[in-house]
Amino acid sequence: MKQIPINYIQIDDKIDSIRKIDEVAIGRYVEKYESGTSKAILVKRITKDKYILIDGKHRIEAKKKLEQRKIDCELFDGEDIYSKAVECNQEHGIPLTKEEEEKVILNFIDAGKSDEEIGKVFHLARRTINNKINSNQTLKKARVAKSKVPTINYFLDGEKQVNIAKDLRLSEGAISQRINNWLDEINDDYNTGSTKQEIIAQENEKGIKLTLKKLNEFIEEDCNKLIIGDCLKEIPKLDNEIIDCLIIDPPYGMNYQSNHRKEKYNKISNDNKKAFILLDSSLKLVKEKMKRNSHIYIFTSWKVIDKVKPIIEKYFKLKNCLVWNKNNWSMGDLEGNYAEKYELILFATLGKKKLYCDKRPLNVLDFARTNNEEHPTQKPVELLKEFIKNSTKENELVVDYFAGSGSTLIAAKELNRRWLGIEIKK
Ligand SMILES: C[S@@+](CC[C@H](N)C(=O)[O-])C[C@H]1O[C@@H](n2cnc3c(N)ncnc32)[C@H](O)[C@@H]1O
Repeated sequence: MKQIPINYIQIDDKIDSIRKIDEVAIGRYVEKYESGTSKAILVKRITKDKYILIDGKHRIEAKKKLEQRKIDCELFDGEDIYSKAVECNQEHGIPLTKEEEEKVILNFIDAGKSDEEIGKVFHLARRTINNKINSNQTLKKARVAKSKVPTINYFLDGEKQVNIAKDLRLSEGAISQRINNWLDEINDDYNTGSTKQEIIAQENEKGIKLTLKKLNEFIEEDCNKLIIGDCLKEIPKLDNEIIDCLIIDPPYGMNYQSNHRKEKYNKISNDNKKAFILLDSSLKLVKEKMKRNSHIYIFTSWKVIDKVKPIIEKYFKLKNCLVWNKNNWSMGDLEGNYAEKYELILFATLGKKKLYCDKRPLNVLDFARTNNEEHPTQKPVELLKEFIKNSTKENELVVDYFAGSGSTLIAAKELNRRWLGIEIKK
């Protein structure tokens, strides 16, 4: 016990509101102090001249009436001063009014306390507290709102509904309804225009530990479509960390114009020196859209590989240079040069995604060339399927933002993968 100056003692609003000041009680303590029979008050020490009152506000008022500056105090060394204050109030033997009790229980619910913990403070059984809450609309509503947070957090942690129900002492039906309502709410938010980032921020604010990885499991990406537009403008609109496999066949930076057919194709957009800047900028943008463990395939040519390689290495781990061995060769300089029979694909990774194949694939792949009927540099769907099978499971997302005729997208669709393409030309 310690004598402490009254002006060192502060009264916390929440503790102050447990019980209203009662003049009769102050009078009784004045008499007790005069006869030397009053007990010490209870305080929590914050600093040497700052204490928080836990129990004894009527005694402080009595001391003031007696014009005494110091008061006998016991020091509380626990942390939960509010629970201790309520417990002390119970021990005085004067029950809280219905209104005071409702406010106290509401504060406990708000602090996330279980019925059992509240019961301990009131020296009542858990069932009694449970009945009090269920028979009071305000308390019931607060409990429902509050238990949503632990329910969803358990659910996000992968806990089984039966265990959540046991732990929160709710029926399994109530848990399942709460989870379904929450899933409906976040889907509604998304469908009415909230971004995933906004939804995550809003749920985290409520104490729900929602992450992007989890949200992506609940909200199907708006995919399986070809977006006509500039990839540099369209990539930023995608959600972060959604792509499992990126396959691109960028403009080559070679002013490519096929001579293969009688009727020449138009030149490919951005197929000039700017192609390398485009590749660099697009990879920079797409990196944050890739899942933390994902694969990247980039078509290139031996003529520009020295420029392309360092760009890829800025963002991803370059693992291999694959050779697509075609069944045919291109014309070009018929007498003065060897015929071109292969194309190169740089294979890179982000994180540690493994290949999904039983037999280790070789870095030379034999696939027949296309007749380039849809696009001057059209890639064979079967070759793309090989990459997609090796790098993704069903339903994972494959993206090609230099989509051309859409060969990557067709390959992904045929393999039951989700797909998303961007192409600048209509
Ligand atoms: C080499 S081709 C891809 C051909 C494709 N692999 C196929 O099998 O049909 C490159 C494509 O990128 C497109 N492109 C060029 N710049 C682009 C940009 N900024 N955004 C989106 N697409 C672009 C070109 O129009 C062209 O169709």
